[in-house]
Amino acid sequence: MPQPNEAIVNGKRILLVIGGGIAAYKALDLIRRLRERGATVRCILTKAGHEFVTPLSVGALCGERAFTDLFDPQSEFDVGHIRLARDPDLVIVAPATADLIAKIANGHADDLASAVLLATDKPVLVAPAMNPKMWGNRATQRNVTQLRADGLQVIGPNSGEMAEGGEAGVGRMAEPLEIVDAAISLLGVSSSARSLAGKRVLITSGPTHEPIDPVRYIANRSSGKQGHAIAAAAAEAGAEVVLVSGPVQVPDPKGVTVIRATTAQDMLEAVTKSLPADAAIFAAAVADWRVATPNTQKIKKTKSGAPSFELAENPDILATVAKRTSGRPQLVVGFAAETENVIEHAKIKLQKKGCDWIVANDVSPAHGVMGGDRNTVHLVTMQGVESWPSQSKDDVARQLVGRIAASLAGPRG
Ligand code: C5P
Repeated sequence: MPQPNEAIVNGKRILLVIGGGIAAYKALDLIRRLRERGATVRCILTKAGHEFVTPLSVGALCGERAFTDLFDPQSEFDVGHIRLARDPDLVIVAPATADLIAKIANGHADDLASAVLLATDKPVLVAPAMNPKMWGNRATQRNVTQLRADGLQVIGPNSGEMAEGGEAGVGRMAEPLEIVDAAISLLGVSSSARSLAGKRVLITSGPTHEPIDPVRYIANRSSGKQGHAIAAAAAEAGAEVVLVSGPVQVPDPKGVTVIRATTAQDMLEAVTKSLPADAAIFAAAVADWRVATPNTQKIKKTKSGAPSFELAENPDILATVAKRTSGRPQLVVGFAAETENVIEHAKIKLQKKGCDWIVANDVSPAHGVMGGDRNTVHLVTMQGVESWPSQSKDDVARQLVGRIAASLAGPRG
């Protein structure tokens, strides 16, 4: 866990709106985590939020009374809903229930929480938490799409067991540390004060090109968007980032050392030279095979027909690094681009490659992942599988970086 004295959001003011759901108990931990990092936290409890956590416990953790009522003359004289909306640097809604999300999406203002959310012009981070059926309902999905279109940031929900009734599915609120990390990104605090400060992160991204002759090559459709987004998010989180990139059109992320590689063999060499690292994320779509002996001259068309090539297997960069006996990064993350049985294949890959996590995604053409801006991934670890909602590649990157930071800061970190 991050050290309590890691004052990474020093002086920042956060308004936390706590909605009415079982996950409200996690909001208490969230207050603590934010305050540990030097933030001032002010809380609004919705009427339903009240039912799950008390203003007394919230107030005790904030060091300031919790706000609850739009029509409480005392509150309105003291601070008032307009000041509550204007004062913070960031507003977090956690847990955001289906009802609260519907209210925000439709501009309601019939209680303190919704009135403040309508009145604020500050960044808003929403952490939904609800029953999987409610999350999957088209009305909720429509409302969440509206929130994103209105410029609000949405984190989670994650998949897993629900607190009530042992039901499982997507609907569990993002963990407090993931929310903290997303908040830190949104607050844009200085690099020395972020969750990956002092950590070195190595990332591979993009395709490889395996030459056939001087003008032709074997390649794949990887754009490098996801790997580059992870590099950008890790840099934003304060890490020293080395990005080993295959040939891509996307621009270099800011604040990142980029090493270019063309073939899988080049990429392995660049990766090996860039070690040691605290975490290594292998997002590149490395060609499995290369032409064993590329022609030194352009191959000419001949009457005898099409040429044939002998292929040789490329080194597996991820497995090579994951299986190192010395100098292995503390956390090794692979990607699995699959077109069928995504999770099953990812679990097998986790074992086979010897990595700690696999980020699995369905790249069948219908999903438009290759080259597209959105991604739906499953995080496969030894502990289980988490299915993340469909989100932008930038949001996937931020969520993954949050998890990496939490893991590196864990008991072994
Ligand atoms: O076996 P597969 O190609 O599906 O594995 C994908 C994962 O392995 C990705 O993380 C990819 O970056 C990595 N990989 C690698 N070197 C290879 C092939 C894949 O690092 N030669």
